Amino acid sequence: MDIKKVVQNVYDKVKGIDDKGNLASYIPELGNVNPDFFGVHISTIDHLNFGVGNSSDKFSIQSIVKVLSLIMAYRLLGEELWNRVKVEPSGTAFNSLIQLEVENGIPRNPFINAGALVIADILISNLRYPKEDFLNFVKKLSNSKEIRYSERIATSEKNVGYRNAALCNLIKSFGNIENNPSEVLDFYFNLCSLEMSCEDLSNLFLFLANDGFTLGDKQQILTRSQTKRINALMQTCGFYDESGEFAFKVGLPGKSGVGGGIVAVHPKQYAIAVWSPKLNEKGNSYKGVRFLEEFTTETELSIF
Ligand code: DON
Repeated sequence: MDIKKVVQNVYDKVKGIDDKGNLASYIPELGNVNPDFFGVHISTIDHLNFGVGNSSDKFSIQSIVKVLSLIMAYRLLGEELWNRVKVEPSGTAFNSLIQLEVENGIPRNPFINAGALVIADILISNLRYPKEDFLNFVKKLSNSKEIRYSERIATSEKNVGYRNAALCNLIKSFGNIENNPSEVLDFYFNLCSLEMSCEDLSNLFLFLANDGFTLGDKQQILTRSQTKRINALMQTCGFYDESGEFAFKVGLPGKSGVGGGIVAVHPKQYAIAVWSPKLNEKGNSYKGVRFLEEFTTETELSIF
């Protein structure tokens, strides 16, 4: 099968569909992005690298960063990590407060905002220079020096981040945040503001398709078991209350962000990243989901 041809054909088809999504205007700066941008990049275990459209343009990866912060915290704490955050799908919106109150401030999983705030807190407690150390970790993993936080996006989100502030304070009241909530929130907004391209993302996430080893220098980032667990979490919780539907339609572990990016992994085969800024009502890229659905249907390369 000619993967490049399939990617190109599916891209052309999905580019033409009516985009029923909306930009994530609750973060004002995200409302200023050109809604017509659309990029795809695939990286395979057999060293194929192929991008279409805006595949090398940087965008705000938002919640996709939650996988990277989780990986860094997992490397630092090992299995102890799961005392602070659980591994169950929430079935609620990514910014919901409801379960925290009845579940004693232990978030359902690391990919909802509550869970990602706890992970941010863990990184602050365990890193000397959290912002710099985290950025260096991501740069090293992606083999790219051109990855930055966006102060513009972080500030824009901070100015309206009342719900995340509520989440962080509620978790703190249960004792599951160690540091000052304003420090945790500041770091969290910076993490979400990270800017990367589809090419950066698919290259970076490829190690999750390769049993935890980077493809180039064969560095072990996670053990096989840890890699399985991260992929399992992406499969069950990567798309918030649309995780079931994403598994049903696409059949790959993955993670989305409100910047319109999605990255997905086929263990032992490939990583693929898609970016189209308009979101469906669950907060996932409208065209991104459509592209991946058509791609896995066409290639029959899903994990099920
Ligand atoms: O905290 C927020 O609301 C954003 N910084 C991240 C949310 C996000 O990307 C959820 N994605 N679907």
